[in-house]
Amino acid sequence: MASVQGEEVVDRVRQYNDIVEVITDYVALKRSGKNYFGLCPFHPEKTPSFSVSPEKQMFYCFGCQTGGDVFSFIMKKEGLDFRGALEFLADRAGIELPQPGSAGGQASRERQELYRVLEGAARYFENLLRSGPGEPARRYLKDRGLDPETVERFRLGYAGRSWDGLLKAFTRQGIELARLEQAGLILPRRDGSGYYDRFRDRVIFPIRDRRGRVIGFGGRSLNDGTPKYLNSPETALFHKRETWYALDLAREEIRRTGTVLVVEGYMDAIAGHQYGFKNVVASLGTSLTLEQARILSTLASEVVISYDADAAGTTATMRGLEILSKQGLRVRVVTLPVDADPDSFLRSSGAEAFKGLLAGALPLVEYRFRRVLKKHGTSTVEGKVRVVREIVPTLAEIENEVERSAYIEKFSHQLGVREDSLRHEVGKYRQRKRQRRARTWGPGHRNRKIRNNRDEHRNEQIMAALTAISEKTPLAVQKAEETLVRLVLNRPEIIERIAVGLSPDGFEGFEIESYRKIAGLLAKAYRDSIAAGKGFDTRQVLSVFDDEQTRSLVSRLLIEEGLDRLESEKVLNDCIITIKVHKMKKRRFEITRIIAEREGKGVPIEKELLEEYQELSRCIEEMERQR
Ligand code: UTP
Ligand code: MN
Repeated sequence: MASVQGEEVVDRVRQYNDIVEVITDYVALKRSGKNYFGLCPFHPEKTPSFSVSPEKQMFYCFGCQTGGDVFSFIMKKEGLDFRGALEFLADRAGIELPQPGSAGGQASRERQELYRVLEGAARYFENLLRSGPGEPARRYLKDRGLDPETVERFRLGYAGRSWDGLLKAFTRQGIELARLEQAGLILPRRDGSGYYDRFRDRVIFPIRDRRGRVIGFGGRSLNDGTPKYLNSPETALFHKRETWYALDLAREEIRRTGTVLVVEGYMDAIAGHQYGFKNVVASLGTSLTLEQARILSTLASEVVISYDADAAGTTATMRGLEILSKQGLRVRVVTLPVDADPDSFLRSSGAEAFKGLLAGALPLVEYRFRRVLKKHGTSTVEGKVRVVREIVPTLAEIENEVERSAYIEKFSHQLGVREDSLRHEVGKYRQRKRQRRARTWGPGHRNRKIRNNRDEHRNEQIMAALTAISEKTPLAVQKAEETLVRLVLNRPEIIERIAVGLSPDGFEGFEIESYRKIAGLLAKAYRDSIAAGKGFDTRQVLSVFDDEQTRSLVSRLLIEEGLDRLESEKVLNDCIITIKVHKMKKRRFEITRIIAEREGKGVPIEKELLEEYQELSRCIEEMERQR
């Protein structure tokens, strides 16, 4: 067992690694009710049976019965032992572990060092913005309408004119050149005679990760010099493909509202926040990536895109919207006036006008239709044919039949073609696609089926082993034990009440071995922590169990839907009654058997036995009345 200090570190690492966020790096998750769902990373599947509970900080796959907490996930996914997973997650959260000995610890130290250097640089730039030489940058930001609070919130800064201001300041502090270069802050001179600062005479926009740690910078020229923006290169910490600017500030609001507003530029994101749109993130001018889409899909169900008119129409943008939509996000597109971007629009027209634009944002399908309409026109038959040709694949892709039908109706009217002819074209396209898919996937299908069967078979074996279902135990009793275990896992504070309810046997009397084990271990851990004067944190519940099978089972019990319904007194009492009645009936049956045996042999029957029989019958009757 880990030492007390060790446990504290483990808890800290757990606390700073939200399981949904960690798993998001591997699996595209979608929220559904309390939990998130996605395709299981541990077995091949086409429909999501992998679920993650933010509340319980656990995952469980209903397909392959893999489950556990954030540590189990990383152990399995990264192929690490517990110590390795601990280091991995500590590093991810920027927590320093006591005596890191291994090679992993070394890498982790280097990353920590980089975070520190970048944080130091952010502070350096912030200070420069406030200093004498920062005056032109201050004026620039003021002219662009930024409040001092906004400047502070986004930690904007200024890089001075000198070629080696940062270089000197940091080397004086003893920071190695190699480190500064790894952080993307300095570049080697061409002639090989040392280094120079990457950012000079620019307004600095620190780029932060989801947890608010500085991972890079963007620097804007004050005088429209080129390039307009200079950004940090890819580093060990800065990966453009998976970064959203301002996500640290927008995250809560995105989760709360389920909607994220995506803009293109630093300034658009900043203006958005200043004008009260707290769910704005910026994509930083590059086309959207799958990684970025995945991140959003775990936080939101809807994306509203507000790019400037030029950018919105490009193929790259359309592809990006496609990627978002394929992640299951509802995508809508805002149409801004020509030559406006969200920043300039907010400044010229205000928040209310912008809200109006957001309200009128078009669903992606409709946005596409408008574009092809505009491109080809509808005044000629030829134009109409082209529009139909281009919009049919889009319509065919809509899986929801009602939605598809509604758009066909709407578009055919707008286009001035017969509804049934457009419907026919869409139908034909879908048919062809199905055939294509059947051809492509044909032989594979069989394999998949075989594998699924094998999986199912294996699952049955595991389930049988896990729950040790005895044929003699009625299903109702199994269910009752399971329900009680789920109740105590969710609310350990009711454990004593249930134990008393089940007396004299307590949890020891559970018929299903795995439930008996879980309840027993939990009761012990709960009592221990109460005796030690500590509270019992439900989030640590998994750490009570040390074998993988039990951990998986516990995860399933914790994560399955329907817990709310279970959390009622009535259910609790019913379960206890079911179990106790079953026990009494078993004993009564046993007595019946003994009596029959004795009678057969002509042996006299003890009075106590008969009394017990009558007492049991009375109790059973009474308990069954209580239901
Ligand atoms: P924009 O040119 O639309 O920038 O590029 P902006 O944010 O509206 O800038 P202002 O308002 O003129 O200051 C959108 C984004 O593309 C990236 C930046 O992230 C910018 O915010 N970009 C643009 C670059 O990285 N480099 C460039 O040279 C230009
Ligand atoms: Mn702009």
